[in-house]
Amino acid sequence: MTKSVLISGGAGFIGSHLVDRLLRRSDLDRLLVVDNFWTGLRRNLSHIDDPRLRIVECDVERFRSDDRFDEILHMASPASPPWYMREPVRTIKANVGGALNLLDKLAPGGRISFASTSEVYGDPLISPQPESYRGAVDCTGPRSSYDESKRCTESLLFECHRTQGIDVRIVRLFNVYGPRTRPDDGRAVSNFLSQALTTGRLTVYGDGTQSRSWGYVDDIVDALERYFWLDPVDYCGPLNIGNDREIAVIDIARYIAQLIPGVEIDICPPIPQDPTNRRPDLALCRRILPGWEARIGYEQGIARTLDWFRAQVEHGADTHAPGPVRL
Ligand SMILES: NC(=O)c1ccc[n+]([C@@H]2O[C@H](COP(=O)([O-])OP(=O)(O)OC[C@H]3O[C@@H](n4cnc5c(N)ncnc54)[C@H](O)[C@@H]3O)[C@@H](O)[C@H]2O)c1
Repeated sequence: MTKSVLISGGAGFIGSHLVDRLLRRSDLDRLLVVDNFWTGLRRNLSHIDDPRLRIVECDVERFRSDDRFDEILHMASPASPPWYMREPVRTIKANVGGALNLLDKLAPGGRISFASTSEVYGDPLISPQPESYRGAVDCTGPRSSYDESKRCTESLLFECHRTQGIDVRIVRLFNVYGPRTRPDDGRAVSNFLSQALTTGRLTVYGDGTQSRSWGYVDDIVDALERYFWLDPVDYCGPLNIGNDREIAVIDIARYIAQLIPGVEIDICPPIPQDPTNRRPDLALCRRILPGWEARIGYEQGIARTLDWFRAQVEHGADTHAPGPVRL
């Protein structure tokens, strides 16, 4: 049976890689991208020439259609702190309002998949973080529009599953990086690369010992396509997906400085409520998706991302690196 699929946020960084994977499916009849191009870019999809793809420019929470979709992937939301902190209400609408609206567009027996985040763990008091960890989130803090709207959307979808039997898939993604990140995205890897290529200096906030677990986008999308549609899995989530190799921010900065001769590192005051550590417990992921691993180490992944950023600079794309908030 052929499938009609809707992806919100399909012009974004991860969403556009998922669109590429979805279009490899022989059972896919049509694919609708709903995106308002807030943080996404048209050029992320401009390489595609496939009659099954249609792009609608629209806020997902306001999207209207009489069509019903067999599969819906809800990816619409900024992922980067400077973007969601600038427009917190819009962020909440994208996540919660988007999910409420998309539930109405699901065909009977359809599946809705959602990209939640490791931010639901807040500034975690245990490491690594398993899915059972309930987190340390500040609902009054500057990150709350993102963290709490992801938590609320998880709650909405799990409750729809529990009370109505709706088929849901919820992943908690840890930091993802790679080609098609906006140069002005504002998180560490993209910031460092944009800054290094355009100014020859890169900025580390705090002492740089705060750690992250960076997953290269190809690895992460491998896991997403298996969990969202390829593997016959009977588990609705939550499922941590990421790379469990934890690296200090300063080590990433030093690695990039070493790849681009002459680059210097500036140390600036820390960012408010910047989580001190972040590392996924992947035991469940390894059981649900046997054989999957994040195989691309940060050295190789950053080198590939640097090549892509360089090509952007050469093609004259805007590579402005933004101000002092990143994750
Ligand atoms: N990148 C990461 O490290 C990461 C980590 C955890 C979770 N996630 C989640 O994965 C998803 C994709 O992240 P990303 O890194 O690709 O972000 P992104 O900002 O590149 O993509 C988000 C896309 O959603 C679109 N969008 C935002 N609000 C919208 C709205 N109201 N209506 C329609 N479209 C809207 C944007 O224009 C963009 O194309 C997000 O839900 C994010 O929260 C990402």
